[in-house]
Amino acid sequence: MSGAAGDKTFCEFFAGIGLVREALGASGWSCIYANDVDPKKRALYESRFGDEGHFHLGDVWETAEVVARIEGRPRLATASFPCVDLSLAGHGRGFEGRHSSTFFGFIRAMEQLGERRPPLVLLENVTGFLTSAGGKDFEAAAMALAALGYRLDAFTLDAAMFLPQSRPRVFVVGAAEGLSPPGTVLKPPSGWLADAWSERVESADRRIRPARLVDLMRSIDLPTGWIAFDVPAPRGAPPHVATLIDRDDGQDWWDAAAVSRHRDMMHDRHRERIDATAASGGSFVGTIYRRKRDGRTRAEVRFDGVAGCLRTPRGGSAKQIVIVVEAGRIRMRWMSPREYARLQGAPEFPLVSNTIQNLFGFGDAVCVPAVQWIDRHVLSPAFATGIPEARRTPRGRQPDARPAPADDAGGAREEHVA
Ligand SMILES: C[S@@+](CC[C@H](N)C(=O)[O-])C[C@H]1O[C@@H](n2cnc3c(N)ncnc32)[C@H](O)[C@@H]1O
Repeated sequence: MSGAAGDKTFCEFFAGIGLVREALGASGWSCIYANDVDPKKRALYESRFGDEGHFHLGDVWETAEVVARIEGRPRLATASFPCVDLSLAGHGRGFEGRHSSTFFGFIRAMEQLGERRPPLVLLENVTGFLTSAGGKDFEAAAMALAALGYRLDAFTLDAAMFLPQSRPRVFVVGAAEGLSPPGTVLKPPSGWLADAWSERVESADRRIRPARLVDLMRSIDLPTGWIAFDVPAPRGAPPHVATLIDRDDGQDWWDAAAVSRHRDMMHDRHRERIDATAASGGSFVGTIYRRKRDGRTRAEVRFDGVAGCLRTPRGGSAKQIVIVVEAGRIRMRWMSPREYARLQGAPEFPLVSNTIQNLFGFGDAVCVPAVQWIDRHVLSPAFATGIPEARRTPRGRQPDARPAPADDAGGAREEHVA
């Protein structure tokens, strides 16, 4: 068993610009290997962390290369694998899609690490992961991790619990058998009573353990069993989005024609509210997304003090707009990369000169305080209890490390895939 601070090493798969590392570094986790296929993401990653030589720019399916580059036995592997096939925009391809199925490239690497396999894993993805293929994709992922000997827990967190951005995400934690910090309850494989586990997941705050997720966990009979960490729901309200938006005249505010065009695109009730605020000399700061509704492009204003979910800017409807009403004036502009960084909890992150590259990087990334919450309540406590000796993959439980789909090479080279 070990748990010395120097051992607190992890590998960041699907590293993107490195916001998982940004989160985990704060509590002493040290990244020894990072992997992503996108050179533009790597440029942002290295603008923050420097070129330490461990960023593997390559396809996760290059298993031999991945395994050769990982030194020793990392204690944790994280994988915020591509969401595009699991999200609403993904046309329901799920794990049949070439992007999200890269998850199995991660699984194959974990399998090939053998006795060097980390005792902890953390997955992150969109909530569509719970509904994709009617839950079968989530089940396939859970089974693949269990085949590697992991007991699993799963929960959801929304960035809006910490910061003014709506960004609900599913997290799955895998813990090697024997790794159970105080407060963890177990649901052993079928046939065993699991009252404490049922009580834990069923009485939890539904924002953390929504009914859909609990149903899946109850129905999937893992050969390793499920666990439930003591993950509390964050308390307190996030700051208002106005606190993260720049209002000075130095911003790229639109001209009057562009503002007027977007005002015209608003629903009547949104426009009336904005006009009334301007007429009364009141102030308002919010965000807008353009959406197609009934064949028309609408500018939908959020009045709740929370920004919409940041996305990768494929087309104008995926870029968020800032609206500020002050002193009788209505001003609008595209949200800036610095504001994206603030909304992801990395306010000081060094940006690169290309705006679109920055927006792609942050639009795809994890929200830093959400990962820190998991670290504080799950990962670091698990690490502190001591790491069990490595075990071989249990006999007869081979992971579903599917070969790359035939068109994978092309997909992996495609830029900016979330
Ligand atoms: C959801 S993003 C991860 C974002 C990251 N956690 C962050 O905070 O920036 C998924 C990442 O997977 C990468 N990716 C897609 N296909 C890949 C592949 N075949 N091998 C390695 N990385 C891949 C994308 O370039 C993208 O950066």
